[in-house]
Amino acid sequence: MNMDKIRERARLQAKGACRVCRQCDGRICSGEVPGMGGAGTGLSFRHNFDALATLRFKTKLVHQVHFPKTEKEIFGFKLSFPVMIAPIGGLAFNLNRAMDEAEYQEAVVMGAQDAGIVSGTPDAAPMEVMQLGLAQAAKTSGRALPFIKPWEPGEIAEKLSMAKEAGCKTAAVDLDSIGLITLRLMGRPAYPKSVIELAAIVDSAHQRGMKLIIKGVMTAEDALDCLTAGVDGLVVSNHGGRVLDSAPGTAEVLPLVARAVEGAVPVLVDGGVRSGGDVLKMLALGADCVMIGRPFAIAAVGGGREGVAHYAETLRSQLEQVMIMTGCPDVAEAGPHLLT
Ligand SMILES: Cc1cc2nc3c(=O)[nH]c(=O)nc-3n(C[C@H](O)[C@H](O)[C@H](O)COP(=O)(O)O)c2cc1C
Repeated sequence: MNMDKIRERARLQAKGACRVCRQCDGRICSGEVPGMGGAGTGLSFRHNFDALATLRFKTKLVHQVHFPKTEKEIFGFKLSFPVMIAPIGGLAFNLNRAMDEAEYQEAVVMGAQDAGIVSGTPDAAPMEVMQLGLAQAAKTSGRALPFIKPWEPGEIAEKLSMAKEAGCKTAAVDLDSIGLITLRLMGRPAYPKSVIELAAIVDSAHQRGMKLIIKGVMTAEDALDCLTAGVDGLVVSNHGGRVLDSAPGTAEVLPLVARAVEGAVPVLVDGGVRSGGDVLKMLALGADCVMIGRPFAIAAVGGGREGVAHYAETLRSQLEQVMIMTGCPDVAEAGPHLLT
């Protein structure tokens, strides 16, 4: 198994819904939502990629880092390196049925387990999507991170119970899904939440002995409101550029959010991360862990569970290499000093 073969196979399977470009930067697929692109002009997706591309590493060669430490523990998960697979749902309408939804969830959850990392699982208008991800989570005794859409409180509570039953100890709400055109097209739009409403969702998770993360935070202001509501973690994300056109790249806003949070809860980030070097850039900007979406979807479609584990191992070894070249002994010690 190698990445070229995985990508070639994924290109065939996707039948045009994703061109599997050499650089997955959102240029060719602008506006393709449903699809794999960014919403509208696609600028938000491109900003994610471009914001990372403009960052430069400081080379450091005089040091003694031979075997950098990449392991990380977060939300009770022991990770071989600080990466999780971002939740991706709706392969039928987004990726031209390139893969059956159940097979996809199996590939990412089990492939992540093989590689010592963890996958997010998605939620969507049809209940089945959440159930398929949780069925895989149950097989791994809850080694998955389920994401729930910002529905009405009753449905969120029901889905938290389902996640707990699958063995999950932490769940997330992708609050930015209020901007998703796909939910509106299905007649199931979701709406913003006040701090009080968010606090009630957090309480509902805590009552079940679970932690709750909010995904989609792009400003220090929203981050502080989430902290007031009592959340246990944040994901800086613009949903891969799919919910608001002309949003900044996540690497641009991550330092502001991390500074506002001041270590009170873990801060995760996603958007445009493609290599181990990109992972280290996000850690240097203040992330505790990094999520990756589309490239793992391509790895799953082109290589199944093995493809996912292979891509993860490629990322881990790239990360190790860049840590040696920047003199970074431990992912816990990554910081702005690694960048020019
Ligand atoms: C086709 C597609 C489906 C997605 N479905 C979900 C979802 O169900 N829940 C969610 O929180 N995010 C979803 N996302 C967003 C990803 O979790 C993630 O935020 C984004 O893909 C990260 O950007 P990247 O793909 O550039 O790595 C989806 C993204 C894509 C491309």
